[in-house]
Amino acid sequence: MSSKRTRLDRFLAKQLQVSRKQVRLILLANRLTVDDALVRDMDYQLDEFHQVALDGQLLRGDRPRYIMMHKPVGVVCATKDDIHPTVLDLLPEEDRCGLHIVGRLDLNTSGLVLLTNDSRWSRELMTPDRHVPKEYQVTLKNPLSREYIPSFRDGMYFGYEDVTTLPATLEILGPHLAKVILVEGKYHQIKRMFGRFRNPVVGLHRSRVGNLTLDIDLPPGQWRCLTEAEVVTL
Ligand code: URA
Repeated sequence: MSSKRTRLDRFLAKQLQVSRKQVRLILLANRLTVDDALVRDMDYQLDEFHQVALDGQLLRGDRPRYIMMHKPVGVVCATKDDIHPTVLDLLPEEDRCGLHIVGRLDLNTSGLVLLTNDSRWSRELMTPDRHVPKEYQVTLKNPLSREYIPSFRDGMYFGYEDVTTLPATLEILGPHLAKVILVEGKYHQIKRMFGRFRNPVVGLHRSRVGNLTLDIDLPPGQWRCLTEAEVVTL
């Protein structure tokens, strides 16, 4: 997702209808925060998700919103796409503004997708060091073997990125069905991991992120707002 950037001084001058000199004074007086952190730098680059507040009053950035969506196969995790419908297209037009996607799924993966306009929350959730677990149900073309389990647990080397995957859990649920828990999100990670065993993934569904499980009665394409408790515990 591309994000448009604006210099903070330009934004403030326009928003408050004041001169650059007045903007400088506001910043020097420690009156301005971006995502709750004091900012004094005129050149600070704002992206479209930053919440800017003067004396504690939001100048930009809506009330924070947090959404759980059941992404269907064939819908793309992007804010715009010329070919496929996007997850934003599944929301009413008036609710889309300012939302971004927290951790994408591939076009042919279904399941739990989170959307928010709160960039601090999404950054925290996606920080690699936090190792937030994500649970997937995977359907494989060929029968599974217990030999896969240590490879998932010990990590696999991905030459393209020059990294070894972090320990992942693989549980065999049936001859062609597995549960996988990842604590990271490399590009096509699950497909590539099963690819090592020349076993194509034919179905992939994410059922959980952290301690938030996709509602079983939320049909594909539907969504709901998270409760305050869910937002906090995530
Ligand atoms: N791994 C994949 O290969 N695809 C996804 O969408 C998520 C994890």
